[in-house]
Amino acid sequence: MMTLRTAAPPDHARILDVMPAWWGGRDLRALVPSLFLEHFAGTSLVAEADGELAGFLIGFVSQDRPDEAYVHMIGVDPARRGDGLGRRLHDEFADLVRERGVRRIRCVTSTVNTASVAFHTSIGFVVTGTGVPVEARGLEADADGHVLMCREI
Ligand SMILES: CC(C)(COP(=O)(O)OP(=O)(O)OC[C@H]1O[C@@H](n2cnc3c(N)ncnc32)[C@H](O)[C@@H]1OP(=O)(O)O)[C@@H](O)C(=O)NCCC(=O)NCCS
Repeated sequence: MMTLRTAAPPDHARILDVMPAWWGGRDLRALVPSLFLEHFAGTSLVAEADGELAGFLIGFVSQDRPDEAYVHMIGVDPARRGDGLGRRLHDEFADLVRERGVRRIRCVTSTVNTASVAFHTSIGFVVTGTGVPVEARGLEADADGHVLMCREI
């Protein structure tokens, strides 16, 4: 049975363990320092099936724009894709942050990650621009730049 819950600091190590395989060998672990699971666990989600990590979403409410939230990372176990879990994680996140006054969710995905762009478009995100966020500069995997996406909730 699949269960969803808000994340907790010990989930950090489990998330890092699966990231390279779930991203098809791209190593983006440097984009997920433990601070995300220390300071944004209450708006981040973990999905588990039979005790195993099935998916996760790391997100937070913008401090400077209280009506906006940002999803930093979402991942679903490759063996469990195409079954609605990614959508479910996003919908649950939207419910969590809506309660806190959020009306718009932003995310950034790599231009090489066409599957991610297709996924986000399917669940209601629109492309608002392109660019490379400061934290990604110098990372080889992100040299091709980023697609900025947004969803009104
Ligand atoms: C992107 C990801 C989270 C999608 O998870 P998922 O559980 O397979 O997605 P869902 O089953 O909920 O799909 C939701 C919608 O997106 C679409 N979609 C999902 N993956 C897709 C793909 N690879 N290509 C095209 N459409 C896709 C589905 O068809 C579905 O649309 P529909 O409801 O209109 O039929 C998953 O593929 C993943 O973990 N990828 C690797 C990590 C990554 O790139 N994360 C995003 C950047 S941080």
